[in-house]
Amino acid sequence: MPSKVAGVGFILCFNTFYFIAITLDKSDFFCYVCFMVETQKEAFIRFKNVKKTFNLSNHVVHAVDEMSFDILEGEFVVIVGPSGAGKTTILNLLGGMDNPTSGDIFVGEKNISKFSSKQLTEFRRTDIGFVFQFYNLMPNLTALENISLASQLSPGSLITAKDALKSVNLEDRGHHFPSQMSGGEQQRTSIARSVTKNSKLILCDEPTGALDYITGKKILALLHSICKERNITIILVTHNSALKDMADKVIVVKCGKIESVTINASPKPIEEIEW
Ligand SMILES: Nc1ncnc2c1ncn2[C@@H]1O[C@H](COP(=O)(O)OP(=O)(O)O)[C@@H](O)[C@H]1O
Ligand SMILES: [Mg+2]
Repeated sequence: MPSKVAGVGFILCFNTFYFIAITLDKSDFFCYVCFMVETQKEAFIRFKNVKKTFNLSNHVVHAVDEMSFDILEGEFVVIVGPSGAGKTTILNLLGGMDNPTSGDIFVGEKNISKFSSKQLTEFRRTDIGFVFQFYNLMPNLTALENISLASQLSPGSLITAKDALKSVNLEDRGHHFPSQMSGGEQQRTSIARSVTKNSKLILCDEPTGALDYITGKKILALLHSICKERNITIILVTHNSALKDMADKVIVVKCGKIESVTINASPKPIEEIEW
């Protein structure tokens, strides 16, 4: 053991904190003690060299062609690109609705690209909330029943269906069927359904694609507040490039490839974004 600490210091280098102690031992030799502390946050989602190929009768479609990206926990991510770019395929892979042709997909500690279909079913049930363009509510169930169904399927759920409905300001519409609600109300119900599962990741595929401008903005504001208040990672896919400005991270895709990954130092509130 060194007898005396002659000095201590910190150096920050390449996202790693080095703690250095210079010590003087009995025989007057200097010893250096160095602790390294990673300051970079661990990625919550890792897409590594992922390929998804569809073999059609007369040609092959490279829907996702060697894509790699990282997403941090609690990030609001916008994946943007034209129709046919591979956006929905990325969400389907992340949500365990499809297996990649090759590559690795990590969600938390899980490498879901190696999962069996049984494991993927469990993963979809417990780990992921989905918000789709056309809401995907069960037409013969009320708003409350639609949400209850999801919470029953997800045993880890901590939020009651009623509270989830309240969190999207629809507490007085619980007994209404989807056909009795507007598009915006149905989408809020579907967001409540994804929140009640208490999953750490919500995947949204063109969630405002069927809504008018004002209602769409309200839905985006709601998703953003859920992300920031509950530290839920939200990945939103859209062809509307104006939505880039509200994201913490923007992934631009084109023809199955990633064009760019950008971090927004100061994302804009959706209220300030026009299109
Ligand atoms: N199940 C499938 N079978 C065959 N081709 C598919 C399938 N799903 C997607 N594709 C093709 O993959 C490409 C990317 O599709 P998609 O991910 O839906 O794009 P986006 O959501 O960006 O519009 C398109 O060319 C599409 O036709
Ligand atoms: Mg799509």
